[in-house]
Amino acid sequence: MAANTKHELIERSVFLMIVLTLLTISVGGLVEIVPLFFQKSTTSAIDQKGNQLDVKPYEPLRLVGRDIYIREGCYNCHSQMVRPFRAETERYGHYSVAGESIYDHPFQWGSKRTGPDLARVGGRYSDEWQRAHLRNPRDVVPESNMPAYPWLDRPAKVDDIEAKMRALNKVGLHKYSEEEIAGARAAVEGKTELDAVVAYLQGLGLALKNVR
Ligand code: HEC
Repeated sequence: MAANTKHELIERSVFLMIVLTLLTISVGGLVEIVPLFFQKSTTSAIDQKGNQLDVKPYEPLRLVGRDIYIREGCYNCHSQMVRPFRAETERYGHYSVAGESIYDHPFQWGSKRTGPDLARVGGRYSDEWQRAHLRNPRDVVPESNMPAYPWLDRPAKVDDIEAKMRALNKVGLHKYSEEEIAGARAAVEGKTELDAVVAYLQGLGLALKNVR
């Protein structure tokens, strides 16, 4: 049977169908994704109205804490993205904007919430509360089903801090100076993993903390 329309020709040829489908999806995908690499709202520290946000690359201790957060899989139960809905903003504060995460590699947005969102947890509790909570959540929140992390009370591994900062200089918008890198060891030496995680948590979401 002869194909009498172009459409028929494509539908009757598996090869053509596959090639053209891939082409369509690729172009469609690129059109959506590529602009994000160049748009100011996703590549600079500004909020949705274009105001400058006070977002800085992680200081060394928070960087160590962030890596422990990832190592321990905290993201399996905690998202770091407040959605732009009333129920969320009433509970957590200002919704998250892309500009807040420009120094996060990889970002920790997520969607799995066994526990509360942590995008704006910085400053919500005291350092003492955070430490007690991580050692054993039930000591401060009796009904909690969050696991205890008693082993965080040990010296943090800090001999790779310079390498971490150099690596980040390569992947993102980070610009740690040689001076900052040289001073990093002193800032983390003698700290425990608990110190680092608490420092990380206490700095989360401050840029839009007091904005409603
Ligand atoms: C199995 C799931 C689970 C894991 C894994 C987990 N948490 Fe939680 N987390 C919870 C739950 C549930 C709560 C709410 C009850 C509570 O406060 O303990 C919570 C609460 C919290 C809070 C208080 C948030 C608030 O606004 O009250 C912080 C901070 C926190 N977790 C940090 C962490 C960190 C850091 C890790 C990794 C070291 C972690 N969690 C791992 C389930 C988890």
